[in-house]
Amino acid sequence: MMSKLWGGRFKKATSPIVDEFNASISFDARLWRYDIEQSIAHASMLGKCGIIPLAESEKIIQGLRDLKNDIEAGKVEFDTSAEDIHMNIEKLLHERIGDVAGMLQTARSRNDQVATDVRMYVKAQIKEIDSLIREAQSAFIKVAESNIDTIMPGYTHLQHAQPVMLAHHILAYVWMLQRDRERLADCFKRTDVLPLGSAALAGTSFPIDREYTAKMLGFSRISENSMDAVAERDFAVEFLCALSILAMHMSRFAEEVVIWNTSEFGFIELDDSVATGSSLMPQKKNPDVAELMRAKTGRVYGDLMALLTVLKGLPLTYNKDLQEDKERLFDASDTIVICLKVLIEFVGHLKFNTTRMAAGLEGDFSTATDIADYLVTRGVPFRTAHEITGKLVRYCLEQGKTLGNLTLEEMRRFSDKFEGSNLTWDAWSSVEKRNIPGATAPCRLREQLEAAKKALAADLF
Ligand code: ARG
Repeated sequence: MMSKLWGGRFKKATSPIVDEFNASISFDARLWRYDIEQSIAHASMLGKCGIIPLAESEKIIQGLRDLKNDIEAGKVEFDTSAEDIHMNIEKLLHERIGDVAGMLQTARSRNDQVATDVRMYVKAQIKEIDSLIREAQSAFIKVAESNIDTIMPGYTHLQHAQPVMLAHHILAYVWMLQRDRERLADCFKRTDVLPLGSAALAGTSFPIDREYTAKMLGFSRISENSMDAVAERDFAVEFLCALSILAMHMSRFAEEVVIWNTSEFGFIELDDSVATGSSLMPQKKNPDVAELMRAKTGRVYGDLMALLTVLKGLPLTYNKDLQEDKERLFDASDTIVICLKVLIEFVGHLKFNTTRMAAGLEGDFSTATDIADYLVTRGVPFRTAHEITGKLVRYCLEQGKTLGNLTLEEMRRFSDKFEGSNLTWDAWSSVEKRNIPGATAPCRLREQLEAAKKALAADLF
C-alpha cells in the first residue's frame, strides 16, 4: 500500500476500485504548471512572513523549480496512486528534498489550492481564446474588405427578404465575436480573485500575507469569504456559458457555410484545403469541417449543463463533487480552441461566387419594400402602401413579370402616386437607400469596417 498523505487516522488501506474512482490525476495532471507556480508563491510567502524558516522556504522553492524543469523535460511520471496533481507534486517534492517538503502545506488545504489552480487555468484559457477570437474577427474583416462590392439576397426565414451587401452579412459575425470577447473579459474579472489563504474552509490561524501571494500570482484581488472561496465555481460556469454562446455563434456560421455550399445555393466553393471527399461518390466535396463545428456546440453545451448540475444542491463548502469541474472545463476549452483554429483557417479560404449571389436577386421581389417606402414618401400611409405593393407582386406573379420590368402605366393601375420615369426597383438602389447608421448601404459599410477594426484593436483586459 502506498502511504497516503492523509493516512494518519486510517487503519486499513482503501480498496483499489475506490482509489481509482477517487483519483483525478489522470485528468488534473495538466494543471501541474499552475500547481507548482502557486506552491512557489505560497512557500515564498510562508518564508517572508516567518511562518516557516527562510532557509526551508528557499529549499522548497528550489525543489519546486527543479521539479518544474524535470517535468518540462519529460523526465517525470505522475503516480496514479497519488490521487491528484496536488499530492503528486507534494510527493515528488518529498522524494527530492525530504521532510522539509512537509512544510509546504502549512496554512493551505487542497481546497483553496485546487480552487486557485482552476482559476489560474481559466484565466490563461480566456487569454488564449481571446487572441484566437481576434484572429477570427480579422479573417472575417478581410473577407468583408475583399468582397466590398458584392451584393446578395438578405434572408429572413431563409427566404429572400431584402438585398444586402455580402460584407454587411460577414461583419455581423465580427460583432457576435466581439460580444463573445466582452463576455469572456467580464468573466475574467470575476475569475481574477485569489482563493488561496482560505485553507480548508475557515481560513487559517497563521499570519499569512494573502496580498503578497496574489501579487506574485498575478491576481488583482483576494476573496472576501473563505467559505465562498473554496465552495464556489461560478467563474467556471460563467466561462462555460461564454464558451457556449461562442460555440453557438460558430455553429450558425457553420450552418451558413453548409447551405451556401449546396448546389442549390452555390454561393461558395470550398477550397480543397478545408473540404473533404466521399469514399464512395467520386464527385463529392463535403463541408465536414463546418458540420463538425456545428456539432461540437453540443459538447460545449453539455459541459455547461454538466457543471451546473454538479453544483446544484451542493451544501457549503468543499465537496468532492467539485472535482468534476475539471474535465468539463478542459473539454469545453479544448473544443473551442480547435474550433476557433479551424474557423480561422476556413474563413481565410472563403471564395464567393459573386455573380451567382447577385443573380439570386434577379426577379426575386426583394425590392418590394422599396416600392412601399416610395409610396410612403408620396404621402401614402405605410399599411396602405404595403397592401398596394402586395397586389403589385401578385400581379407580377400572375403575369410572369418582375418588379423591374413593370411599366409606369401598369404601376399606376394600382396607385396614381407612381410618377416619373426612373422607377426601376433595382437591388443596388435598394441597398444604397439604406444609409442610416448600422444599415447595409456601401457608404455605411466603410464606417462599419472602421468601427470593427477599432473594436478588434482594443485590449479588453
Ligand atoms: N482533486 C481534488 C479536486 O479536484 C482536490 C481537492 C481535494 N480536497 C479534498 N478535501 N478532498 O477537487
